[in-house]
Formats: sequence, C-alpha cells, structure tokens
Amino acid sequence: MLREPVTSVVDAIAGGMSGNTGRYEKRLSDLTGLYADADAHEALVRSTSDPVVYDVEDFKPGTHSGDLIYGVTRMNPGRIGREYFLTRGHIHAKADRPEIYYGQKGRGLMQLESPEGETRIVEIGPQTICYVPPFWIHRSINVGAEDLVMVFAYPSDSGQDYGIIENSNGMRHRVYATDTGGWELVENTAYTPRSSEIARGLMKTYA
Ligand SMILES: [Fe+2]
Repeated sequence: MLREPVTSVVDAIAGGMSGNTGRYEKRLSDLTGLYADADAHEALVRSTSDPVVYDVEDFKPGTHSGDLIYGVTRMNPGRIGREYFLTRGHIHAKADRPEIYYGQKGRGLMQLESPEGETRIVEIGPQTICYVPPFWIHRSINVGAEDLVMVFAYPSDSGQDYGIIENSNGMRHRVYATDTGGWELVENTAYTPRSSEIARGLMKTYA
C-alpha cells in the first residue's frame, strides 16, 4: 500500500512536534528504582507534586519491518543526590535495530552498554547526531541546566526491552555530578553482569 508523506514541525524549545500519533510522559514516581539514592528519590517525590520528568511525542506509521518511527523527547534538568535525571533505558527487543538521536536543546549524554558490559558515553548538544548502533543498551541523561530536547528515529519493528537493565540491577556505571560542575562515571556496585550465554543470545540478527 502506498502511504502519503508526513511532515512534523519540531518545537525545539518546549519539546514535542506536530503530526504525532502518540504521546507519553514519565513522572518522578515512575522512575522508582533507577537511582542509587532511593531515599532522596522518595523524598523528592513526597516534597514535590510528582512532576513530569520527561515526555515523548512520536509518529508511528505501524510496525512494518523497514518502516521508521520518529519523534521528539524532552527531559527536565534535575538531580537525585549526585545523579542526573535520566530515562529508564532499554535495548531494542530486536536488538540488532539501531537508533538516531539528534540534539535540539540542552546538554545530554547517551549512556550505552554492550551485552558484555562495556560502557560508552556520547555527549549530545544542539545539532549533534548520535548514532546508537545495533545491540547497545541505551539511556539518555540530562547533565545540563535546561531541558534536554532530542529528535529520534528507529526502525518500526525494534520494540523495547526495559527488563534488561532491571535484570542486571542497573547499568554497569552510574553518571554522577562532580563538585566542579562536570560529571564522572562511577561503578554501580549492585551491577550483576549478564552471563556470556545471555550476552551471546542478544547478538542475534533478525529478518
Ligand atoms: Fe531505543
């Protein structure tokens, strides 16, 4: 079936875009369990009105292999203890599917982890494109003082597996703010590496 073209206008300041078919948002309380300082997280949920921390507007043409989902994600600045606000993170259910992120506003990091537990950090600012290759777990982190807004696109049949991070008690590293206004990687002491059998199983390719 021949589809009609679609355009979306990105709001690089407020986030979001026109022409979207869907929208979702995550509140502070939705991010329970992500942070090393669980008490600080709980205290912040209780002392605030449980604000929206990030929202996503996307255009989904369907789930046909070879088709493309795209959208805009916007994330508040903020911290829980020394950790910045971040997304839950995932690997694609079809793990060989890649993704593109295109920075619009703010200062962010893409934290990537391979099935074997290697970490990569990519800095994303306005006009920066980050290519997330197949097979990498990925999460975005707002290390700036303003909203982080990014455009993204990924194959329609990618799917998302959020359990992969929970199953290993988080990602291998945490990103902490330093006293001098920068950030540093710290080992997550609760991290449980994936078995080599599971890691190998994730490296399969799909039709
Ligand atoms: Fe993704």
